[in-house]
Amino acid sequence: MGEPGWRSFWAVTRHAEVAEIERQNALFPNSETSVQLPDAALAQQKASGVQIKTLVHMDDPEHAKYRKLTNEWFKPSNLRTPFEVRVGELAKRYVDRMAEFGSECDFARDVALLYPLHVIMSILGVPEEGEPRMLRLPQQLFGNEDPEFAGEDRNAALLAAALDFKQYFDRMTDDRRAHPRDDIATVLSTARIDGAPMPESERLGYYMIVATAGHDTTSATLAAGVEALMNDPDQMRALQRDPSLIDNAVEEMIRRATPVRHFLRQATEDYTLRGAKIRAGDWLMLVQLSANRDEAIFENPYRFDVRRRNASEQIAFGAGVYFCLGAHLARMELKAFLRELLSRLESIEPNGAPEHVVANFVGGLKRLPVRYRMRSAA
Ligand code: HEM
Repeated sequence: MGEPGWRSFWAVTRHAEVAEIERQNALFPNSETSVQLPDAALAQQKASGVQIKTLVHMDDPEHAKYRKLTNEWFKPSNLRTPFEVRVGELAKRYVDRMAEFGSECDFARDVALLYPLHVIMSILGVPEEGEPRMLRLPQQLFGNEDPEFAGEDRNAALLAAALDFKQYFDRMTDDRRAHPRDDIATVLSTARIDGAPMPESERLGYYMIVATAGHDTTSATLAAGVEALMNDPDQMRALQRDPSLIDNAVEEMIRRATPVRHFLRQATEDYTLRGAKIRAGDWLMLVQLSANRDEAIFENPYRFDVRRRNASEQIAFGAGVYFCLGAHLARMELKAFLRELLSRLESIEPNGAPEHVVANFVGGLKRLPVRYRMRSAA
C-alpha cells in the first residue's frame, strides 16, 4: 500500500538495479508521467490540456527521432570550439562576480544559480535580457514543492509558467525562421520530423527540456561541490596543487550531488528484480541518489573524495537511450568554473547555515552563505 494521493511504486535503490532497469527501455519505457507528482496535480495537468511532451516523456521509435535532432550539437567535437572558449569566459565572469562581492556572498543564489543558466541560454540563443524570466521558470516547474518559489497555488503557478514559456519561445521560433543563426533555437525552429515541420507542442517541449534540464541540475552540482570543498580544505588544497585532479573531482561532485533525485518507469511485462516480483503496470522509482551511495560500488560512499578511483561510475546522468544529452556540457561547465575559482581562491568558509530546496525531482542547495578571500584575476 502506498501513500494516499500518490502512485505506489517499487523503490529501486541499488546501482546495478537502476542500470538494469534503465538499459531495458523497451520493457521499462518512459511515459508522460515519468516523474512522481501527487495524483491531484496529475489530474489537474491533464484537465488543463497543458501537457508538455519532452524527450523524457517519449519512447522509441519517437524518442530516437527527436533525440537525433540535437545529438550532434551536444557532442564533445561540436562543443569544443568555439563553445568551450565561451564557457571559459562565462566561468571567469562569474568568478569575477564573486570577487566583486568582496568577501561574502550566497554562493548558491548569487553564483551557482546564474552561471549554468547563462551557459544554457547562450546555447539556446536567448539574449541576456530574457534570462531573468528563464531563471524563474525551472524554479516554478521543478522547485514547485518549495513554497518560496511557487506561492500558494502551486498547480496554478506551474501552468502560468508553462504558458509564459510558450509565448516567449513562439516569438523566438518566428524570429529564427526569418533570420536563421547557429543556435539551438534555429535547429528547433527549422527541424523536420518524418519530413514535416516538428509539431508545435513537441517543439515547445524541446525548448523546455533544454532550458530546464541543463540549468538547476548543474547549479545544484556546483553549489554542492563548492560546499564539499569548503568543508574539507585539504581536498581543496590538493586540487589547487594539482589541477589535473579536477576532472575526477567533478565526477565525485556529480556523484555526491545527484541533483535528479528520481525518474519513474512503468513495467510493460512481469519481471523479477533481485527476487522481487514486479507485475506489468507496476511503477518503479529509480532512486539515483541512493544508487550513487551504493556501498557495493563505492567504498565509504558518504565520504567526498576527489581522488576516488571509480567516481566516474556515478549514475547521476542515468543510463541507456535516455542518458543525459547534456552530460558533456555539464562536465565542461563544472571543470571550467573550478579551474578558474581554484586558481584565485585563497580561502573559503561557511558563513551561515546552508538550505536545501524542497523538491522530490530536481533538488539541491538554494542557500550557501560563504566567506572567502581571493587573489585578483591574472
Ligand atoms: C550535473 C548536471 C546534470 C545532471 C545530473 C543531469 C541528469 C540527467 C538525467 C538523470 C537524465 C535522465 C536520464 C535517464 O532517464 O536515464 C537527463 C536527461 C537529459 N538531460 Fe541532463 N543532467 C545534467 C545536465 C544537463 C545539461 C547541462 C543539459 C543541457 C541541455 C541536460 C539536458 C538533458 C536532456 C535534454 C535530457 C533528456 C535526454 C533524453 O531523454 O534523451 N542535462 N539528465
